[in-house]
Amino acid sequence: MSQSYTSAASAASGSSLSSPARVQWSTRMAFILAAVGSAVGLGNIWKFPYITGEHGGGAFVLVYLACILAIGIPVMMAEIALGRRGRHNPAQGIAALVREAGAHPFWKIIGIMALLSGFMILMFYTVVAGWAFAYAPKAATGSFVGEGGDAIGAMFGGMLADPVGLTIWMTVVLGLTMAIVVRGLQGGLEKAINLLMPGLLVLLLVMVGYAMGTGHFAEGVSFLFKADFSKMTGTAFLVALGHAFFTLSLASGAIMTYGSYLPDNVSIGKTTLLIAIMDTVVALAAGLAIFPLVFANGLEPGAGPGLIFVTLPIAFGQMPFGSAFGTLFFLLLAIAALTSAISLLEPTISWLTEKFQMTRIKACLLAGGLLWLGGLGVVTSLNVGAEWTLFGKTFFDMLDYLTSSWLMPLGGLLMAIFSGWILKKTVMQDELGMGSGMLYQLWSFTMRYVTPLAIIIVFLHALGIVNF
Ligand code: TRP
Repeated sequence: MSQSYTSAASAASGSSLSSPARVQWSTRMAFILAAVGSAVGLGNIWKFPYITGEHGGGAFVLVYLACILAIGIPVMMAEIALGRRGRHNPAQGIAALVREAGAHPFWKIIGIMALLSGFMILMFYTVVAGWAFAYAPKAATGSFVGEGGDAIGAMFGGMLADPVGLTIWMTVVLGLTMAIVVRGLQGGLEKAINLLMPGLLVLLLVMVGYAMGTGHFAEGVSFLFKADFSKMTGTAFLVALGHAFFTLSLASGAIMTYGSYLPDNVSIGKTTLLIAIMDTVVALAAGLAIFPLVFANGLEPGAGPGLIFVTLPIAFGQMPFGSAFGTLFFLLLAIAALTSAISLLEPTISWLTEKFQMTRIKACLLAGGLLWLGGLGVVTSLNVGAEWTLFGKTFFDMLDYLTSSWLMPLGGLLMAIFSGWILKKTVMQDELGMGSGMLYQLWSFTMRYVTPLAIIIVFLHALGIVNF
């Protein structure tokens, strides 16, 4: 049963720093679907399978699951709670919390970093999502049929080398994202998500079913779930932790902004658990859809980033009904990427509309214009502009590096310290609604010690100060 909340409910509640009549999700389910839509994306279907493949399978999966449970879930709870308490876009919401707590203005940086990080991720996310959009028609027209690895590798290389084609697909993704977001929370995001998420689920189930028919399903299962710890390295641990942040869309403003629209009477703990479970199930299902096809065709699971765009198309080119299922697969990837892109645009739009009183249309056009220019930079960094580098990194590499290696972990670290040490205890107790019981103590311990320590270790490792 879905219960309807009105914005009057937020105005009536005294606990949050809300301005009256700010729009909210129409139901708890709408929020869950939107957050799952944000979390489930290229990270689940493209990145998770290939990093699992690179790090040897089962043992890596186990460590990844531990990171989701011990760090990802508590941090997500904190981010949703911060968003709901602030009841604004990340920058103004955090600023309000800093004022409420009488904390040093330095902490406002959390909101600013979140906005920046989401905006920068979106600049390259639209380009990579464009690859999925480009591959669906390629599969549909039978481009992979009977082709070998060289030809399919050349196809991928050819796509990356073509700035015009890449720009067209990037523009399609950005245009769709803007068209949805401009219509607002209930009229745009909710409607699109209600349509896209069931579609995604059906396509995923169909793909897993298809993988079951290959006769190599058991191999896929054992690859994903049989832990061989001899293959686990220190680096694999760090990759797993980094991916836990990425896959749950943490520390980039998306979850905080979605949390700012969450009605007061929804339980953050239960909701977060549900979101994390669904995100994990989708990642595992993607693995179960992909690896049996890889094994059935005698291909390499550890192919790296090309697993989806080269290895898998080879498999589709050799299998019965490969063109049809290839089309479905890339459609699935495109939908997953689109619902994440929506959540990456919303924080900026909410900031522009709340801080500068812009209309949504103006905000979307302004942000979209800048994102398009940024996307153009990313596109050219893959081909004609590949030589323009800063510190040896192209624009694309730079955006990825700055967000994944710095802004997101640093944002996670600051959020953990801010909610664990700086805010008054009652603020988070209020929002999480767990009183001061065992679960709250567990959450608080994670925020204060486990998360900061884990992230600091990641930084020390990245800086080459510790090695393992
Ligand atoms: N979670 C998304 C995925 O798995 C990617 C992502 C990272 C993201 N950070 C984000 C999406 C912030 C939305 C907002 O593909």
